This record gives sequence, structure tokens and C-alpha cells, in this order.
Amino acid sequence: DLYGDRPNSRGVEFGHAATLRRLAEGVRREEGPWHAAPLVDGQLLPGAMRELRDPATGRVIGTVTESAEAASRAMAAAHGFAPRWDRTPADERAATLERAADLLEAERDAFLALLAREGGKTLEDGVAEIREAADFLRFYANGARRLFRPEALPGPTGESNVLIRHGRGAWLCISPWNFPLAIFLGQVAAALAAGNAVVAKPAEQTPLVAARAVALLHRAGIPAGALHLVPGDGAVGAALVEHRHVAGVAFTGGTDTAWRINRALAAKDGPIVPLIAETGGINAMFVDATALPEQVADDVCASAFRSAGQRCSALRLLCVQEDVADRMLAMIAGAARELALGHPADPQTEIGPVIDAEARERLLAHIARMRGEAKVVLDGTAPEGGHFVAPHIFGIARPEHLREEVFGPILHVVRWRRDALRETLAGVAASGFALTLGVQSRNESFAREVLDAVPAGNSYVNRSMIGAVVGTQPFGGMGLSGTGPKAGGPDYLRRFALERVETVNT
Ligand code: SER
Repeated sequence: DLYGDRPNSRGVEFGHAATLRRLAEGVRREEGPWHAAPLVDGQLLPGAMRELRDPATGRVIGTVTESAEAASRAMAAAHGFAPRWDRTPADERAATLERAADLLEAERDAFLALLAREGGKTLEDGVAEIREAADFLRFYANGARRLFRPEALPGPTGESNVLIRHGRGAWLCISPWNFPLAIFLGQVAAALAAGNAVVAKPAEQTPLVAARAVALLHRAGIPAGALHLVPGDGAVGAALVEHRHVAGVAFTGGTDTAWRINRALAAKDGPIVPLIAETGGINAMFVDATALPEQVADDVCASAFRSAGQRCSALRLLCVQEDVADRMLAMIAGAARELALGHPADPQTEIGPVIDAEARERLLAHIARMRGEAKVVLDGTAPEGGHFVAPHIFGIARPEHLREEVFGPILHVVRWRRDALRETLAGVAASGFALTLGVQSRNESFAREVLDAVPAGNSYVNRSMIGAVVGTQPFGGMGLSGTGPKAGGPDYLRRFALERVETVNT
């Protein structure tokens, strides 16, 4: 009963041509233009207008209105309304989120279109993301029903001791562009389920998906005072973080930004503000000579190149046993060459664009540097006209030579020999990141050795390293990869709540 009385959200059979055609037609009907603006207490606020473009074509798909002033108005409004939302029974808050999950599934095509046109998401990624978002809504709703019931505590005192959980107040959610729906709604749903009023600050690249998700939550019955939207860039985010009424922050994005938020919160007087940060990783997969080559090729391509490598869980560093490296890499490169790059709304597309021109330039600069410094295993050119980057594979001598997260379809490979495995494991562990880890092997003791040597929040053996399932595979890392608790895990909601104990001498 992870999701209440429902099973997890249903997918689509992508092997079925007629189903795919229907999906693509549904998406084609939704063309925009779309608009997003600050929404405070149900009122749209004015501000400066900016155009948003389809990353695959450069075509204008809509506009966003941004205003620094909206930040303080939203925070003040959330702070004022939070006690009322906290007094709304948890069952009622949960039922509202469950209604939102049903609405989301009913409006799948509209969200798929936005995910493709604004976020560059393929249909397959879009379907998976909508499922994940619906699962988050139901999972946190279900969790809240249990967690926010007053809990009688046993003990020796002879009194009545009751633990009661409450929302903390005005909760700030800052979400990334790579899961503009699932992570956005996951954070917001958890904060609301726990009885907080929410100010949501989506990534500046993807305000349209966020605005539609907020509208959906309001239609489902979330009161105007309990959820406010503030689109904008990092400066708007900083204004929100620095506001005196922030009672908690959930952030998913880069480690540098998480440090900045942490410092800004620490510099404030007043109540100490909790921060939940989920950041990046230099995720590795270890492959030994007993692994099944076809499976390795499939799982590596999915983990490193699907979603154009723009997942925090994505594989960045493949560590292959020297004896089988040539054969494995030939298969991986062959499979990667076959991946179809194209417009994300086209059902044939397997890899869409990267998010914007800046991301593409950063990746192309990395590729240019690696061509000079590393062994080129797979090179390629991408279609013109959009922010496309073809899959690339580069051989490097040691794990230490990759010390930054390269957020795109670029895979780095290190070869290891049995007598030097320990050093390779230590080199990977020493990055300080600890998000995902993969092992491909038929040898259980090898898998155990890798899992014990490399810390990771989510480890995957003989499968891909992406697509954690809400509730079943709680997701999130440690060290430089984040603070925990895991999204979609049993402890996530607790961190959004306050605890009070009432003791009565009976
Ligand atoms: N939750 C996502 C995944 O598991 C994060 O990138 O792939």
C-alpha cells in the first residue's frame, strides 16, 4: 500500500506502434503558446517578460513573467496562511493531493507536450516523468495520513504522552529543469502533505511546466494561500532564501548552489532553517570479465546517454576490467552510434536536445578538451538547428582525472587490472560524491567488493542506474551528493515537519 489504495501509475507500451502514434498526435495538438507568471494568493503579478524557446528547434513556445518583488510577497503570504493549512486535517490534505494525481494522469498529453517542448524530454521520458510525479503525489499523501495522526507514546511515566506532527511554516521549494514536473511536484507535494504552505521556485528554464502543475494543484483543491509560484533566476532564488519567513528549504540542483543556499541560511539570525539538498554525482559503474556484454551495452547506453545524460543519476565513469575492455567498448560504442537524436516529440527519438545553448557550449568545450587530453572511443556530430549533443566516449587513465560532474551524454572510461582494482575503487570513492553506483558482474563477491568500497545512495547491480521507483527505490545521495533524506523514501516527510509532545498527568 505504498500509494494508498492505488497501484503505481501506469505506463505506455512503447513497442506498440498505434499507441505511440496516438501519443504523438495528442502531443502535436498541444502547441502553445504557453505563459507562466508569479502567482501569489491566486493573483498573477506583473513583471518583466522573457521568451522561452523549444531547445530542439529554437522556436518561441511561450513567455514567462518574472518579478523580484513577487519573492517577498509570496513568502509573506505563505507565512500568513501556513497555520490554517496546518490545521486542515492530514486526511483532507492527502485527499487533495490524490485528486491532483488523478487529474495529472487525465491531462497526460498536455503535460507530455510541455515536457517535450520546454524541457526537451522524449515521449518515453515524458511518460515516465508523469508517472513518477503521480506516484510522488500518492506516496506522500499516503504517508501523511499515517504520520500526522497523533501518536500515543508508551513508557514508564504513568502519564498520557502524545506526539503530534505539524508543518513548519512557509516552505521554499527550489527545483531543477531536468525533472521539471516530477521533482517539482515531489518537493511541493511533500511540503504540502506535511502541512506547510509552499513557495515554489522552478528552474528558470522550465517555468511553463511548473505553472501548469501549480494550476492543477489549485484545481484539485489546494487553497490559493497554501501554494505560491515565483518563477525567476538565481537572484530571485537568493531573495527567497534570504527572506526572514523561510521555515525550510528543499533544493535539488548543483552542489555549488546548495553551498550558497546553506551559507545564506546560516548567516541569518532567528530560527535555524533546515535544508534538504539533493545534488549531483560522478556516478561510476564497475564491469568485470564475467559480465554479459549485451546487457552491459544496453545498460550503459541507457544510463549514460538516455535523457541526453541529463539525470543526476546518470553514468559518468565506466570502469571496465582490462581483459574485456576492447570488446565491451566496441559493443557500447556500436550501440550508442545507433541511438536516434531528434525532436523529442517525434516517437522515433531516443535522445533529445540538451536544455539550452549554455549547456551545449559547456559540453562542447569539455568534448574539445577531452579530444586533446583523452583517448577518443566514440566521437560524433549532432543535428544542426537545436541544442543537440551527440553521445561521446573518452578513455582516461585514472578516476581522479574526472573531478566535475559533466551533465550531458559524455561517458568517461577507466580500465582496471585485477591487481590494481583497489586503487581504482579508492579513486572513485575519493571524489566525495555518493549518488548512484552500478556493477555488472556474475560474480557475487566482486559485486560485494565494489558496493563495500564505493559509497552511494543508490546502487544497481546488473541493470541500468536510472529511473528509481518512488517508494520502492527511495532516491538520493550522501556527501557532496546531498543531505538526505531520500525522495520517495519513508523518512522524507518527517523532515518537513515539526514534532510536539503533549504530556498530561491523568
Ligand atoms: N530519480 C532520477 C533517476 O533515478 C534522478 O535522476 O534517474
